[in-house]
Formats: sequence, structure tokens, C-alpha cells
Amino acid sequence: MLRVEDLHAWIEGKEIVKGVDLEVNKREIVVVTGPNGSGKSTLARTIMGDPKVEVKEGSIIFKGEDITDLPPEERFERGIFLTFQVPPEFEGVKIGEFLMKVKGREDLETLKELKEIFRRVGLKEEFLFRELHRGLSGGERKRLELAQALFLGKDMIILDEIDSGVDIESVEMMISILKDLKKRAGILYITHNPLTLKLLEDERIIRMKEGRVVENGR
Ligand SMILES: Nc1ncnc2c1ncn2[C@@H]1O[C@H](COP(=O)(O)OP(=O)(O)OP(=O)(O)O)[C@@H](O)[C@H]1O
Ligand SMILES: [Mg+2]
Repeated sequence: MLRVEDLHAWIEGKEIVKGVDLEVNKREIVVVTGPNGSGKSTLARTIMGDPKVEVKEGSIIFKGEDITDLPPEERFERGIFLTFQVPPEFEGVKIGEFLMKVKGREDLETLKELKEIFRRVGLKEEFLFRELHRGLSGGERKRLELAQALFLGKDMIILDEIDSGVDIESVEMMISILKDLKKRAGILYITHNPLTLKLLEDERIIRMKEGRVVENGR
């Protein structure tokens, strides 16, 4: 579903991703790990089309089409979703209202679906009326990112450290949700968490170092 070929990505005149090849198929979780600063988040942002990142070489193919030069909203429309490692705050934007607008469905049935997802990720219903990411605890932000990934129903889901700062029981809950989500989507999962790596030990894992993939296997 997603194929990244010899990708070289630059930020502010510096090469951060230095020739990465990567494939994520439908019904597959690919785990990405590697030291701080090795380019994992930049790779994710490049796939999503962050305008701060400049692709100087290589391509990103999604569902058979080259999306390397498409704006992020177009990639989203085609079915890619990225969670933020550090989600930005939006004053005055109510979580529930916002998510339903983004999904393009604001009926009662959709609200029910959203409430059920909040229950699954362990967020109380009152969070629907909180402001987007404002004043949320670290773990609550991560739960909300996961809820968005579930609710928006995209085919390719990129999760950037949604398990950092999350308690052990909740990491297990998140991974079991992802294994379920895998039945209908491809997942690229960036993590440092030893428990996650253990729980996903049957999946393919990629290790990055200094902007390159140095290991790829099980
Ligand atoms: N806007 C920017 N300006 C300058 N350098 C940047 C910018 N964004 C990222 N970088 C640099 O790119 C490198 C890779 O960053 P990236 O966030 O991709 O690492 P990471 O592998 O996700 O690390 P972590 O495990 O800490 O999340 C880092 O050295 C970082 O400082
Ligand atoms: Mg990162």
C-alpha cells in the first residue's frame, strides 16, 4: 500500500533522511525504532507531506500512485493519517465537534461511534467537550491521538510514539487495539518502548540510525 523509495528529506538545509526504502502493506504493522534524532519522526512527516520538509530525491508511492509532491490534506483525503509526537494545542476548538467535522459526518450515529472509541481508549465522554489537546495530560494526549486514528478510518496509519508516557496497562490496551485495527489498515508504528517491542515481536521491525535504515527484519 505504501512504498518509499530512496527517500532523501531535508529540513532547513540539512539532510535528515538519507536514502530510506520502506514498504507497508495492508494488514501489516511495521515497527520503526532507533536512537533519538535518527530521523524517525522526520520520515513520518515526509510521508504525510509536512511542508517544512523538502524531498530532494526519491519517491513516496501510495496505492500505486506517486504522492511525493502532493499537499498533506490531499494525502489525508487519499487515506493517510499521522499522529503527532507532540500534538499542537488549539484554543477554542472542541475535540468532539472538531473530529466530527474532519470526518465529514455530524449525525448521532457518528457521535455514538466516537463515544465508543473514547471508551475503548480510556477517555471519559467529557473529553469530547475539552479543547483540542489543551491541558490534557501526556497520557491523555496519546489516547486522543489513538482515538483519532481509529475514528477517521484511514487506510495507512502512522503512529509516532503514542506509547510514550503511557502506563503499562494502557500500553497493552493500545497494542491490542492496534492488532485489531491491523485487520483493515496498514500501520507504521514508531516506538522506543521495550514493552511495545515485546508485544509486537512477531511484526516486521526497522531500525534507523543517522537517517538510514540499518536493520529490517523480524
Ligand atoms: N525544524 C528543524 N530544524 C532543524 N533540525 C531539525 C528540525 N526538525 C528535525 N530536525 C533534526 O532532525 C533530526 C531528526 O529528528 P527526528 O525528530 O526525525 O528524530 P527522531 O528519530 O524522531 O528522534 P526521537 O526518538 O527523539 O523522537 C534531529 O537531529 C533534529 O534535531
Ligand atoms: Mg521522533
